Amino acid sequence: MDISHIEHIGIAVKNIAEHLPYYENVLGLKCYSVEEVADQKVKTAFFKVGQTKIELLEPTSEDSTIAKFIEKRGEGVHHIAFAVPDVAKALAEVEAKNIQVIDKTPRKGAEGLEIAFLHPKSTGGVLTELCQ
Ligand code: CO
Repeated sequence: MDISHIEHIGIAVKNIAEHLPYYENVLGLKCYSVEEVADQKVKTAFFKVGQTKIELLEPTSEDSTIAKFIEKRGEGVHHIAFAVPDVAKALAEVEAKNIQVIDKTPRKGAEGLEIAFLHPKSTGGVLTELCQ
């Protein structure tokens, strides 16, 4: 697989507005985009840190996977996303290496990116996203 950089780190929060002061006033990052991803039942807020982004994820529904994650593990780091030139190709590669995937085919994520998730069971407990 041809990973170029960490595209973003996803962080699960109950409420984005509550955490904006930390990211903006303490870390001095600027929130450049807030977006709702309806099919994932989340609201996202993005900050740039060099080439990498921080993506805050707030559940918009109680049956959102983010709501379930927070219920089970509390707020905190949810996933790490690697940038690859071709998600479909990277998925085929990892599947050939017996890595369990959540998405068999790429789907649309925030910012119009093609994304796919690998299962934490196969990745040492880290929910891993590939995106292009
Ligand atoms: Co993500």
